[in-house]
Amino acid sequence: MTADILVAEGLSVHYGAFCAVDALDLKVRKGSVHSLIGPNGAGKTTAFNALCGMARTSRGTITYDGERIERMPVARRSRKGLARSFQITNLFFEVDVRENVRLACQSARGWRSFDFLSQCASQSAMHESVDEVLAWAGLQPKADSLAGELSHGEQRRLEIALAVASSPTVLFLDEPTAGMGAEDISFAKLLISNLSKQRRMTIVLIEHNMSLVMDISDRITVLQQGRKVAEGDPESIRKDPVVRAAYLGE
Ligand SMILES: Nc1ncnc2c1ncn2[C@@H]1O[C@H](COP(=O)(O)OP(=O)(O)OP(=O)(O)O)[C@@H](O)[C@H]1O
Ligand SMILES: [Mg+2]
Repeated sequence: MTADILVAEGLSVHYGAFCAVDALDLKVRKGSVHSLIGPNGAGKTTAFNALCGMARTSRGTITYDGERIERMPVARRSRKGLARSFQITNLFFEVDVRENVRLACQSARGWRSFDFLSQCASQSAMHESVDEVLAWAGLQPKADSLAGELSHGEQRRLEIALAVASSPTVLFLDEPTAGMGAEDISFAKLLISNLSKQRRMTIVLIEHNMSLVMDISDRITVLQQGRKVAEGDPESIRKDPVVRAAYLGE
């Protein structure tokens, strides 16, 4: 058994002739928080999309839990435990918070059973997990509010909660704190590190907030123009002269 749950080797993604991700090697350790950082347009979201199955891998391989997945459709990858949140919010605004979470739990389970007894059993299990997710995200007091009425920070938190509702093995978070105020950022930071430290979930994180990245990442990969320019723990990334010049603007 390997400690690396997700491995990309020579991963490239092209949009027509343009190479957005260029021969990326990436090893994500099980249970770690692994961040992708880099300037706008570096290829972070594209790399994410390729790992989740939402962008076509043009070259290279992706291995998840020992299985090659680079040609596997996105729905199958998500059933196998890869889940993602979006850079742009993806909620049902006209529906209340509880229902948003319930729909996410339900779609994660697929509701394939038509057997009445097992459906009753899974209905009550479902209520428990909806409440658990709401409590975990601190959204219980807002359970009956429409998602569209939440503050921006609460909406972003609900986004994370929806991705967590499927109990994924690997959770991809694309700029989860974008547009959040300081208080919401510290809560989101707690939530994310709690997923990794207490639930042993593997987190792949894209984030522009450097202090959050430095505080919660086990490993950081720095991308620039589709290529990996540095990789290491927060301390070595902070000191890396290439990163300081290219990204931290020093
Ligand atoms: N669907 C697409 N078609 C063509 N080019 C694209 C597409 N999506 C992204 N690109 C281009 O690929 C490059 C990488 O984009 P990507 O969105 O992956 O960057 P990013 O690192 O996530 O940037 P940001 O920090 O702004 O979110 C950019 O030059 C972008 O313009
Ligand atoms: Mg992006």
